Amino acid sequence: MNETEFELSLRPVKLNEYIGQEKIKKQVSLLIEASKRKNQVLDHVLISGPPGLGKTTLAQVIAAELGRNIHFTSGPLLEKKGDLAGILSSLEEGDILFIDEIHRLNPSVEETLYPAVEDFKLDIVIGKGTASRSVRIELPRFTLIGATTRAGMLTSPLLSRFGIILNMDFYDTDSLTEMVLRSARILQIQINREGAEEIAKRSRGTPRIANRLLKRVHDFAVVNGTGFIDRKTAHKALEFFEIDENGLDPIDRKYLDILINKFRGRPVGLSTLSSALSESKNTIEEIIEPFLLREGYIQKTPRGRIPTDRAKRLLKRFEK
Ligand SMILES: Nc1ncnc2c1ncn2[C@@H]1O[C@H](COP(=O)(O)OP(=O)(O)OP(=O)(O)O)[C@@H](O)[C@H]1O
Ligand SMILES: [Mg+2]
Repeated sequence: MNETEFELSLRPVKLNEYIGQEKIKKQVSLLIEASKRKNQVLDHVLISGPPGLGKTTLAQVIAAELGRNIHFTSGPLLEKKGDLAGILSSLEEGDILFIDEIHRLNPSVEETLYPAVEDFKLDIVIGKGTASRSVRIELPRFTLIGATTRAGMLTSPLLSRFGIILNMDFYDTDSLTEMVLRSARILQIQINREGAEEIAKRSRGTPRIANRLLKRVHDFAVVNGTGFIDRKTAHKALEFFEIDENGLDPIDRKYLDILINKFRGRPVGLSTLSSALSESKNTIEEIIEPFLLREGYIQKTPRGRIPTDRAKRLLKRFEK
C-alpha cells in the first residue's frame, strides 16, 4: 500500500465519521440541510487551513452528504482557460467542482471562473484569428469548493465569490486520539487509548501526521515487541524516530538551531532559511512554520523570523 492508497483507506466518508472541527461540522450540516430543504445548490465554499488537516476529506464528505458527484482538479493543473472550460462543460446540475490549491490559479483561468461561479455562464472563443467570435454558454448550477493552505494569497475578487468560508484549525489531542484509534481499527493495528494518546500528542495537531506516526510506531512495535502499542511502546518508538514530546522533528529543531545558534536571534529572512535548511520556501512557509508559530517557538517580524524563549529553552534541553 503506498502513501496515497493509505490515506484514501483512512478517509471518513460521512460527516459523523469526520472527527473534531465541531464548529465547522455544525455549520456544514446546517448548510447542507438548508440546501436540501430549499432545493437549491449549495453556495460556493472555501476551505482554508494548513496541509493535512482534512480539507480534501471535508470536500468529499460534503459531496457525499449532498449525494452529488465531485470533480477534482487543482490550481496548478488548470494551465489554460480551455482546461477549465473543459471541466465546466462536463458538469451536471448540482455537481461539485473541487479546486485544490485555488490560490495558485493562473490569472486568465481565474477570470474565466468569475462568470462561471457568479452567473453560471461560460464565455468561449470559437474559431481562430479574424474569424473568431466569443459565445456565452449556460452552465448547470454547480457548487465550487476551493481549498487553500494560503487564504491570504487569494485575490479579493476570487475571495468575494465564496458564500461560505471555513477556516480549519489544528486539532486537539482528544480528537487526534480518536483518529488514531479509528485508523488503528481500520488497519487492524492493536493499540490501547494511552498508546493512541501518546501518538496524538506528538502529531502537531495534524491528522495526516497522526496517521503517519501510527504506521511508524506500529513498525517499531512489530520489530521490538508483539506489535501491540501501549504508552511505553509509543514513547520508545517516537524517541527512536526522533519526534520529541511536542511533536517537533529533526527538521524543526534544525530550523530553531539556525535561528538561535547560527544567527544568534537576529531576524532571519525566508531565502536565507531556505538555503540553510535545504528546504523550499513553500515547505518552510506551509509545513514547518505554521506549527512553530502557533506553538510560540518563533515570531515573524517585518525584518524576519526570530526565536522565542520557549524555543531557546527547548534547544538547551536537547543540547544537554
Ligand atoms: N476530521 C478527520 N477525521 C478523520 N480523519 C481525518 C480527518 N481529517 C483528516 N483526516 C485524515 O487525514 C488525512 C489527510 O487529510 P486531507 O488529505 O483531507 O488533508 P488536506 O487538508 O486536504 O491536506 P493538503 O493541504 O495537503 O491537501 C486523510 O487521509 C484522512 O484520513
Ligand atoms: Mg488536500
